[in-house]
Amino acid sequence: MGKIIDGKAVSAAVKDEVRAEVAQLAAKYGRVPCLCVIIVGENPASQVYVRNKVKAAEYTGMGSRLIELPASVSEEELLAQIAALNADAAVDGILVQLPLPRHISEQKVIEAIAPGKDVDGFHPSNVAGLWLGKDCVLPCTPAGVMRLLDSIGIDLSGKDAVVVGRSNIVGKPVAKLLMDRHATVTMAHSRTVNLAEVTRKADVLVVAVGKAGLITGDMVKPGAVVIDVGMNRDSEGHLCGDVDFASCQPVAGWITPVPGGVGPMTIAMLMKNTVRCFLAGR
Ligand code: GUN
Repeated sequence: MGKIIDGKAVSAAVKDEVRAEVAQLAAKYGRVPCLCVIIVGENPASQVYVRNKVKAAEYTGMGSRLIELPASVSEEELLAQIAALNADAAVDGILVQLPLPRHISEQKVIEAIAPGKDVDGFHPSNVAGLWLGKDCVLPCTPAGVMRLLDSIGIDLSGKDAVVVGRSNIVGKPVAKLLMDRHATVTMAHSRTVNLAEVTRKADVLVVAVGKAGLITGDMVKPGAVVIDVGMNRDSEGHLCGDVDFASCQPVAGWITPVPGGVGPMTIAMLMKNTVRCFLAGR
């Protein structure tokens, strides 16, 4: 029976680490890091995520600002808001919650954020930094996945890692981070022929597709580490991942639950990134 990787506990430890760091920064610099979160419109899931980000910032002792803009805000107004925050020395990190309304270009918005304040690690210069192996801000969810893997003490060198999903936010960066740890990485996605055959080779299986129940027990190698990045709602409205936990846990060596796995890690790593941006700005 696979052991559970407790994302809540690991994220609590990370947030406590940050909390201690913030207290030291306050003493040293006379100011705490400040995270500014922008939400556009009233997507209920986004509202929950954003609230949790602000709550986490408060827990660590950081400053936080929440800017709520109506769905009707123009791209120009949003870009002007970001420009003002870029210029504001009291703001260390800027996060614009995605998705954005269709009339606003997400890419333009991402590129408008000063790379030094880009706590999501989505700006092209930070993406380039990741792929070139520079010391830069890492996207929060992939960084959280790596932290979970570290929490179980796995040596990734030479391991077969399979990443299902090729998004810019999770799949692609997590593959790079696994390569950096010397794993042999295979990317699988919606056009992969015979997905089960590919996933069954994985010592480490990271799933980030957004399709409930995509991975079933017969697709998992016995003893594998299964990391579920999915965030879906089942027919009853309950949060569930991409991995069918009931059939996969008996086969896996380790497995993350949803909720309580990767989700809380994203927010914890965001706190780390905010401290990082604060320090880079000193
Ligand atoms: N929407 C879903 N995940 C994320 C994330 O990591 N950052 C932002 N800004 N928006 C998101």
